[in-house]
Parts: sequence; structure tokens; C-alpha cells
Amino acid sequence: MTEHQHPDGESNATAAQQWDETYRGRPRMWSGQPNPQLIAEAAYLPPGTALDLGCGEGADAIWLAGRGWMVTALDVSAVALERATAHAQENGQGANIEWVQQDLATWVPAQLFDLVTAQFLHSTVMPWQQALQLAAAAVRTGGTLLVVGHHPDGLPPWGQHHAPERFYTAEELARELGIEAPEWGLDVADTRHRSIIGPDGEAADVTDAVLRATRMEAH
Ligand SMILES: C[S@@+](CC[C@H](N)C(=O)[O-])C[C@H]1O[C@@H](n2cnc3c(N)ncnc32)[C@H](O)[C@@H]1O
Repeated sequence: MTEHQHPDGESNATAAQQWDETYRGRPRMWSGQPNPQLIAEAAYLPPGTALDLGCGEGADAIWLAGRGWMVTALDVSAVALERATAHAQENGQGANIEWVQQDLATWVPAQLFDLVTAQFLHSTVMPWQQALQLAAAAVRTGGTLLVVGHHPDGLPPWGQHHAPERFYTAEELARELGIEAPEWGLDVADTRHRSIIGPDGEAADVTDAVLRATRMEAH
């Protein structure tokens, strides 16, 4: 596992150690519900193979599997994946999801996918461009890339959201990932506002950066 310097300079913990510690801080970190932009953008796609990068506690992977997708769900945190596996079994989707514990800093995709989704993959230890270029590289010709992140102007008030370099607009994302013709068709580059409930039950308005694109040419 790669060693990472924590942004505050105090720790050389790996990404896995940092995220495991974060997850251990709460019996459940996320809502258990699939992300709304995933539902909005993927509900009408014909099922095939899907890769969920930074899958966390597994709600998106379980939703996709329930709609007929064969899902590979990757996260660096073994604690998150243990919970995700249990949730999938409770939901009868255990057989349709392969859980992969890997650090994106060293992971190389072994296959291409019909859908690659990355939802709020805001790493504290690697540039978002690096993580999301991996996502784009794993989309097969004719497949879909879906990236959703916190827009820098609409961050949740909780959590460690003080590092502006960790966040992007959909336009920045498209530019940095080279999402343009003829290799890509840009289907959605959007800024969307919504209300959410935070981990301690607090309400907040947040903004999502949403990018959906279709790979048009082989790479
Ligand atoms: C903000 S959470 C989002 C989880 C999930 N996608 C969701 O929306 O509920 C970010 C996830 O990315 C994972 N992650 C962060 N850095 C990673 C890395 N270098 N390799 C793999 N996963 C990573 C974390 O463990 C965490 O589960």
C-alpha cells in the first residue's frame, strides 16, 4: 500500500489507514441510499458492466446491481467494504457485485466497463485529476463516464472541506480529463443544487458538479 503524506503534515498513514479511521468513527458514514445524480443519470442506461470508484458503504453499487448491472466496486477502505458487503447480502445483491480493496494511487484497471461512476471521490492524498483520469480510462467504446463531486461553491458545512484544490466544476473536469470530440461526446456538464441531511442530522444546501460523457472512439 502506498505511503501518503497527510495534508496537515502530521501523519504518514496510508490512504487505507486514513479512511479506515474515518469510517470507524461512525457505525454508518453515509445515508445508505444511492446518490441522486446516479439515479438521475443512470436509471435509463441499459445494464452491462459497471465500475464504482470510491464506492464507500456500497449503496450505489447495490442500486446498480438491483437494476441488472454486474458491478465492480472499488474502495481503499476495508472497513467501508466490510459494511458494503453486508449491505449487499441483506439486499440480495451479494452475487452481482465484486468488492475490490485497492488504492487508486497504484491500481490499474484490468478491463473496460460499460459504465464508470465516481461519486464524491474527493481524496485527501491524491490529485482529483489523477483519480478521475483512471475513471475515464476504464470506459469502453460506447460506454458512459459519470462523475459527480461537490462543486467548490456549494460544499457541505461539515467534514474537512477547507482545501479548495480538492474540488472542481463540471467544466474544469471536462477540460482536465480531455472530454471532447472526437474521442468523447459530452452529454451533461451541469451544476445542480439540492438539500441534504448531514451525518449528525443537520440540514444543508449543497451544489453538485455533474459530468456524464460517452466514449465515442477506441483509445
Ligand atoms: C466521500 S466518500 C464517497 C463514498 C461513496 N461514493 C458515496 O458517495 O457514498 C469517498 C470514498 O473514496 C474512497 N477513497 C478515497 N481515496 C481513495 C483511494 N486513493 N483509492 C480508493 N478509494 C479511495 C474513500 O475510502 C471513500 O469511501
